[in-house]
Amino acid sequence: MPTTTDPTRLTALPIVQAPMAGAAGSALAAAVTRAGGLGFLAAGYRSADALAAEIDELRALIGDAPFGVNAFMPHPAPTRAQDELTRRYATSLARAAAHYGGTVGTPAPGCERDDWDAKLALLLAHPVPVVSFTFGLPDPDAITALRAAGTLTVATVTTPEEARVAADAGVDALCVQGAEAGGHQGGFANPDAPAPYGLLTLLTLVAAGTELPLIAAGGLMTGRQIEAVRLAGASAAQLGTAFLRCPEAIAPAAHKAALADPAFDRSVLTRAFSGRWARGLHNGFVARHEAEAPGVYPYVHHLVSPIRKAAAARGQAHGLALWAGQGWRLAREEPAAEVISRLVEEMAATRKASA
Ligand SMILES: Cc1cc2nc3c(=O)[nH]c(=O)nc-3n(C[C@H](O)[C@H](O)[C@H](O)COP(=O)(O)O)c2cc1C
Repeated sequence: MPTTTDPTRLTALPIVQAPMAGAAGSALAAAVTRAGGLGFLAAGYRSADALAAEIDELRALIGDAPFGVNAFMPHPAPTRAQDELTRRYATSLARAAAHYGGTVGTPAPGCERDDWDAKLALLLAHPVPVVSFTFGLPDPDAITALRAAGTLTVATVTTPEEARVAADAGVDALCVQGAEAGGHQGGFANPDAPAPYGLLTLLTLVAAGTELPLIAAGGLMTGRQIEAVRLAGASAAQLGTAFLRCPEAIAPAAHKAALADPAFDRSVLTRAFSGRWARGLHNGFVARHEAEAPGVYPYVHHLVSPIRKAAAARGQAHGLALWAGQGWRLAREEPAAEVISRLVEEMAATRKASA
């Protein structure tokens, strides 16, 4: 268990692999940790049992080396009006389901908690070095209990106000996520609106208000950018899209291919796949469903999930959530260790050039 209270000091390199639900598992986390960064497992949308099995797998690969687990925080149960909006969206998704050979999903009542209580019990019974929170903060007792178990905690924030709330809640570090980021926006103050801040401005504002270590995330693809965010106050950089095309990443093959396909020419924010704002490549599913998708997370995710799986099985990128940060064109198909060694070389060259 850590002897520091700064999660960015657990590793030789100031590089964190972003947790990526559905796209990154133990193989990517192990490769990043072995290369000197901080590998992460994504607990979102999975049961506590599945998470426990993946933690065991990762530990078998890396022994006592550091890693993190990211958890989605519970959302309020939907109102009756939201239930109705969800039902309407389900009806309109039937055509997409037929097109991709899948079915519209049936969200289980209570899915808004994402099995958090069981995951917390697991993480307290079998502590891990780092736990990060997305879409909110757990109750203060959970943060205290994780600390007592020797776990360092990180909260994802997308505004200076969220940073203040998270710091007051007693976390050890903040993951400062700019609007450039691929995948879901992980903030919590106003999930109905897209997060307003680009990374450099957000980092600067958050750094002005806290002494906590900051992990910068959003659009970071090069060592030069990592040095830039460190100059702006970050202790480490969290990269997701940069690792998506790695052989160790478990994103569907059609997702990986789309990242290199010039036909996909812009990244957009959409609620069509989950009901929360997330950044991905614009495709047929977004074009057809963005305007009608209700903001009812995670019910929309569970409606759409089997359609995405069917599209993935058929290699149809237009039915997938092609999560990608704004720097996606720089993602390369190479092993994670090579991504990291290139980042390290670029960081050294940047420091040398500016010395
Ligand atoms: C495919 C994908 C899945 C993601 N899943 C998660 C997740 O499960 N939990 C989380 O906190 N963030 C998730 N994110 C967001 C990342 O933590 C991070 O903020 C983002 O990748 C940074 O931007 P970048 O992709 O431009 O590097 C995901 C991002 C991507 C691209």
